[in-house]
Amino acid sequence: MSELFAAVEIIAAKRDKGELSDPQIDWVIDAYTRGAVADEQMSALLMAILINGMNSREISRWTDAMINSGERMQWSALDRPTVDKHSTGGVGDKITLPLAPLVAACGAAVPQLSGRGLGHTGGTLDKLESIPGWRASLSNEEMLAVLKSCGAVICAAGAGLAPADKKLYALRDVTATVEAIPLIASSIMSKKIAEGTSALILDVKTGAGAFMSDPLKARELAQVMVDLGTRAGVKTRALVTAMDVPLGLTAGNALEVRESVEVLAGGGPADIVELTLVLAREMLDASGVKPLMDPADALKNGAAMDSWKAMIRAQGGDPDAKLPVAKEHTIVMAESSGEMIAMDAMKVGVSAWRLGAGRSRQGESVQAGAGIEIHAKPGEQVVAGQPLFTLHTDEPARFERALEALHGAVKISSTGEKVERLPLIIERIEG
Ligand code: URA
Repeated sequence: MSELFAAVEIIAAKRDKGELSDPQIDWVIDAYTRGAVADEQMSALLMAILINGMNSREISRWTDAMINSGERMQWSALDRPTVDKHSTGGVGDKITLPLAPLVAACGAAVPQLSGRGLGHTGGTLDKLESIPGWRASLSNEEMLAVLKSCGAVICAAGAGLAPADKKLYALRDVTATVEAIPLIASSIMSKKIAEGTSALILDVKTGAGAFMSDPLKARELAQVMVDLGTRAGVKTRALVTAMDVPLGLTAGNALEVRESVEVLAGGGPADIVELTLVLAREMLDASGVKPLMDPADALKNGAAMDSWKAMIRAQGGDPDAKLPVAKEHTIVMAESSGEMIAMDAMKVGVSAWRLGAGRSRQGESVQAGAGIEIHAKPGEQVVAGQPLFTLHTDEPARFERALEALHGAVKISSTGEKVERLPLIIERIEG
């Protein structure tokens, strides 16, 4: 079959800071997905995009082309509006776990397609897979059945959803081209738009432990994604939120499930509860549903917990089963007394990853019980010798490198220095 364009001309156009036309974008995404554009050619184009950028028309067309590479899901069989949340990811970010059943308990439907973690941030599916029996892979029919019966489903995106993104993401990962705003925004939004949700709340993280550590870049990414969603008819809003300090008091799969269940039982750390409630209220408002109750009440009166248990059971899991616990642990003590003024989320994330909570290659397995418990956070007084972290792993040989990663992770001051923290909610962007 003769091709409409030559890949090399498209690469040269972007290398020379040109704009790609709509037909060029449609062709290059389609041709790459079916194997007619080689990985080395797409790598060169991605690097040219990373260096020279794309304008809003190009980003929007690139996103549409990725959506059109696969199926588009739709939820018209449901009797309530759909709303989803996407987080750009961070250390201890387990918010999806309490949030999806909470929003379902308040009256909206949450079709949440999630991913596995790579690098220092954990993936929602890895966390849920620490629950005995729980299954991430569902057919579209199963997904609809769980949504109808429980109001929320969290599962893996099937192979049919934005297949162009699957190929492109794997290539970006090995060609140092992940960090381009047009590529990140189109990757995230192609999947969310193809997922068929009517409303979407984006939680764009910023700070040391986030993928976009610069708040201005995080804002720019949030705005580009809100524009893409709005243009596609999805009611989209974004919150830029803090990821300078880990969220909550745990980082690691089963540890984070345990903390999420504490939140669903009406307890849990204050930052997790606050962010879960802010996002739940945004989701309910964007969905247009008249809430059956306030999300704070749903956490206190057991309604959110009931939705969680139903959702876990519907996917084969036992919500009452004992969660896996790592075989070994070691404790890190405070070296001095004073006020903790900072904690570096990235260092905690890397340490949890080295303990076995995360993977360094796609397809690697993770340890369910590995990770870190945090015993004090910035703003708290600590005394020398008090436990700051408990590290968990099945393989004690991992402790050395995990402890190395934690060097300098906390600052303790006895001279009245100010706590260095970003506000939890930094900015709100509406389409
Ligand atoms: N998550 C995605 O799905 N895509 C990106 O490019 C980055 C984060």
